[in-house]
Amino acid sequence: GAPVSLDTSSIELGQMVTVEWRGKPIFIVRRTPEALDRMTQSEALSRLADPESTEPQQPEYASNRFRSRGEEFLVIEGVCTHLGCAPQYIPQVEPQAFDSNWQGGFFCPCHGSAFDLAGRVYRGVPAPSNLVVPPHFFEGAVLTIGE
Ligand code: FES
Repeated sequence: GAPVSLDTSSIELGQMVTVEWRGKPIFIVRRTPEALDRMTQSEALSRLADPESTEPQQPEYASNRFRSRGEEFLVIEGVCTHLGCAPQYIPQVEPQAFDSNWQGGFFCPCHGSAFDLAGRVYRGVPAPSNLVVPPHFFEGAVLTIGE
């Protein structure tokens, strides 16, 4: 599939937009400073199955604590690593079906897998690994997904 590009400057803090690339939904989230801060707290990290993303679910340049090129924008495939449903973006509210310590992220309604705002899977859910970060790059504010 051809690369797709979009201007990220109109995405508001906390907002997610979706584009399609190679037949898959790609989620682009502009994370707030508060969300980034929550993601680095040890309490939050201790609840993740693979907080260091040791599984090769992202390009080398996204092998960092936020799984992204910069801190602000998360670019991730909206495809649950369990059986491929589309997770819902739930930045703030607590999904009652999961637990009461929700930090914000993605929740898959099919079988209850939950992921943080870097797409890292929580412990004890059906999904076996973190969500996939597709190849992407920025030229100024213009994001291109693809190679
Ligand atoms: Fe997402 Fe099963 S497909 S939890």
